[in-house]
Amino acid sequence: MVNAAAVVLHVLAAVVWVGGMFFAYLVLRPAVGGITPPPERLKLWARVFGRFFLWVWAAVAILPASGYVLIALQYGGFAGAPVHVHWMHGLGWVMNALFIYLFFAPYRAFRAAVEAQDWPTGGAGLTIIRRIVATNLALGLATAALGASGRLWAWVPGG
Ligand code: HEM
Repeated sequence: MVNAAAVVLHVLAAVVWVGGMFFAYLVLRPAVGGITPPPERLKLWARVFGRFFLWVWAAVAILPASGYVLIALQYGGFAGAPVHVHWMHGLGWVMNALFIYLFFAPYRAFRAAVEAQDWPTGGAGLTIIRRIVATNLALGLATAALGASGRLWAWVPGG
């Protein structure tokens, strides 16, 4: 029961975070790129980030917490966990660290620039945020694929 709840929470948190980045990067960004004048675009992104990052904070807390429950219940601790879980754990913390940095440094500066209507600084900040989100999106897709790959390793010779 606890195991099932942990899997459900874990997968939902991954879907919300990675799916949100996918939508922001591959759908919203090209869609708003050419349409609105730059200040309007920056104000839109400030609103989008303000809402989306609340959900990302939830995912940043839920993924490791539910992951550690799964490691304890399914493998009796880290020593018994398979390689793909160690990779997921490591990549998960790289993603968390990148998000925490993004939130407290570039995003905070971006928000301040938008509030001050300093559009050149805001635009430069958005570029940094975009690069970090692109990196975390690639890591998130790879980590989700790794996480779901457990049942495949039995088919790999020596896996
Ligand atoms: C941060 C630390 C994390 C830990 C400790 C952790 C731990 C785990 C564990 C123990 C499992 C069960 C794997 C198995 O038995 O084969 C799992 C599954 C999974 N994890 Fe993670 N994980 C973490 C982060 C992430 C992240 C960041 C993502 C995605 C962005 C992710 C996506 C998944 C997915 C999609 C599954 C597959 C569930 C299933 O197939 O039933 N995990 N995780």
